[in-house]
Amino acid sequence: MQVKEQFSLKHLNTLNLNAVASHYIQISQRDEVVAALDFAEQHQLNVLVLSGGSNVLLPRQLQALVLHLNIQGIELVGQDAETVTVRVGAGQVWHDFVLYSTRQQWYGLQNLALIPGLVGASPVQNIGAYGVEVGEFIDSVQVYDRNLKQFDSIPAHACQFAYRHSIFKDDPNRYIIVSVTFRLLKKAELRLNYGDLKQAVGNELTAENLQNQVILIRQSKLPDPKQFPNVGSFFKNPILSQAEFDKITQQFPNIPHYPQPDSNVKVAAGWLIDQTGWKGKQLGPVGMFQKQALVLVNYADAALTDVQNTYKAVQSDVKQKFSIQLEPEPVLYSEHGLIQAHSG
Ligand code: EPU
Repeated sequence: MQVKEQFSLKHLNTLNLNAVASHYIQISQRDEVVAALDFAEQHQLNVLVLSGGSNVLLPRQLQALVLHLNIQGIELVGQDAETVTVRVGAGQVWHDFVLYSTRQQWYGLQNLALIPGLVGASPVQNIGAYGVEVGEFIDSVQVYDRNLKQFDSIPAHACQFAYRHSIFKDDPNRYIIVSVTFRLLKKAELRLNYGDLKQAVGNELTAENLQNQVILIRQSKLPDPKQFPNVGSFFKNPILSQAEFDKITQQFPNIPHYPQPDSNVKVAAGWLIDQTGWKGKQLGPVGMFQKQALVLVNYADAALTDVQNTYKAVQSDVKQKFSIQLEPEPVLYSEHGLIQAHSG
C-alpha cells in the first residue's frame, strides 16, 4: 500500500476541478481497504472514497485520505434457467462492463450504456437512464462496513433503491463498496418506453441495437467529459406533488413530466433551465451545455467557487420563474473530506 501526499485529483474528477489531496491511496485489492482505514485512523484523517469522479464536487485543497477504488474483475458466480449472477469489482469501468455483458448475452443493462463512472458508484445514486435504473438488476452489494468493522454483503432489497437514491447515499461514511453483484437476464426483454427510444430502435429489436441507439442518443445530447468536463445531469429532476404540478401546468401546459407510481409527478429540470435562457449560457468559466441544459460544463479551468456561482444563479432563475428549487445531483465535499449539504 503506497500513500501519496499532496496528490492532484484534477484528472480523477470528470469536472476537472483543481483539487489536491493531502493523502491518497489507490486500492486494487479488497483487503487493502482495512490497512488504508487504519492509516486514516492513525493520522486522524477523514476518508473520502473516490470512484470514477463523475459525480463529485471537490474543493481546491483536501485535508483527508482519498481512497481511490480500483478493484477489477468480472466473475460469473451463479445461474439458473433465466438469469446469471455476476460479481464485478468496484473499479471496473461501468460502460465497459455494459458492453461486456451484452457480448456475453447477459441482458438488462443496455439502456444504461455510456454512463460515465465505475461499477462501484452505480448503486450509490442508483444510476438510471432511458427507463431503467440499475437497482432493478442488482442482486447484492459487497461492502466494508466501517461501523461493524467487517466485510458484508447487502441484498438489493435492503439497499432502498429509489430515484437517484440508496442507503449508500443516506449513510455515505459507513460503507465502502468493493464489488457489485448483478442478476441479469438470459433472454432479452427490451425496455423501449422512454421518449423516442422505440422510434430510434425501429424494427431491429435486439439488445445490441438498443444499446447502440442509447449510445447514439447520449452522444447527440451529452458532452464527452474529455472534451467538455462535466458530471452528467447537474440537477435532479424535481418531484412535485400532484397539487403543485396542477398549479404549474396552468401556467406552463407544455412542461415535460413523468407521473410516478406514488401519484407524484417528476418534471424535466433540463426543460426548466432551458426556459430560463440558461441553455448554452456561461457565467465565467462555467456554463450549461448548449445541447442539454441540465449538464453543467467547466469550459476553462474552473474552481469549485466558479461552479457554485453558476449553479446558484441557475437555481435562482428557475426558482423565480417556476417556484421550484432545483437540487444538485453531485456530491459536495468539504476541505476535510466530509460530504456537505448544498446551500442555496
Ligand atoms: N429538455 C429541454 N431542454 C433541454 C434539456 C431537456 O427542453 O435543454 C426536455 C427534453 O426535450 C425532454 C425532457 O426535457 O422533453 C427530458 O430530457 P431528456 O430526455 O434529455 O432527459 P433528462 O430528464 O434531462 C434524465 C436523466 C439523465 C438520463 C436521461 C435519459 C436525471 C437527472 N437525468 O435526463 O441522466 O440520461 O434522463 O433517461 O434524471 C445523469 O444522471 O447524469 C443523466 C445524464
